[in-house]
Amino acid sequence: MATILDGREVSRIYRQKIKEEIQQITSKGRRKPSLAVVLVGNDPASQVYVNNKRKACQQVGINSLFYHLPEDTEEEKLLNLVEELNENPEVDGILVQLPLPKHINPQKVIETIRPDKDVDGFHPENMGRLIANLDGGFIPCTPLGIKILLDHYGIDVKGKDVTIVGAGYIVGKPLSVLLLNNNATITVCHIYTKDLKKHTLNADILVSATGVPHLIKEDMVKNGAVVIDVGISKVNGKIVGDVDFEKVKERASYITPVPGGVGPMTITALLMNTLKAYKMHEGIA
Ligand code: GUN
Repeated sequence: MATILDGREVSRIYRQKIKEEIQQITSKGRRKPSLAVVLVGNDPASQVYVNNKRKACQQVGINSLFYHLPEDTEEEKLLNLVEELNENPEVDGILVQLPLPKHINPQKVIETIRPDKDVDGFHPENMGRLIANLDGGFIPCTPLGIKILLDHYGIDVKGKDVTIVGAGYIVGKPLSVLLLNNNATITVCHIYTKDLKKHTLNADILVSATGVPHLIKEDMVKNGAVVIDVGISKVNGKIVGDVDFEKVKERASYITPVPGGVGPMTITALLMNTLKAYKMHEGIA
């Protein structure tokens, strides 16, 4: 029976530290950090995520400015808003919730966000810094949250065989680079992978980030593996991950639940990135 990697509890600990650091800085008369959150349209899941992010900001003393634009907002209008936020010295971080409506090119939006305010870490400059393993950039929130969770439980990735299922821009790709930078041996699987099970069975650490409910079955997991479930799907009104949790937990050494695993850690990493942006802007070491 696996140990649960408790993202809620670890988040509570790190958010308390963030809150105390912000209190300490602002008690000396400095302004509060602030994050601009932009949501276009009414996707129900995105609305939940954005609400959770804003609540978390409030908990730790980060100002959150919320821009809710209608579904039919023109691309140029969104780009103008991002440019305004780029210029606003009171704004430390800018987060445009993805996915965007089909008529808006997400790459254009991502490239318009100034890299020093790109707390999602999606701008090519920040992705480039991650690949080059350079300090001073932002690491995307889900990969960073996963790394903090593993570190908290003393799980060292060095020399481990890590299999990541899902090669997306938000999780799989940047996570593969982050763990490679930490000397893991990485395999990234995707829809064209010939024999998924061969690769998942080899993993000391298995990460699934596909959004396919119950893709990862017990017979695809090595005994004693660490299993990280990034998936969030709704099945019959219930939130489930990519992993067949009840069966796989009997085989794994550590496992993240859904909900309550990676999700809260993603938001905690966003708070960390926003605090980092604020400190850079305020010239605090
Ligand atoms: N949609 C799903 N995950 C994310 C994320 O980390 N950031 C943003 N902006 N949108 C997302």
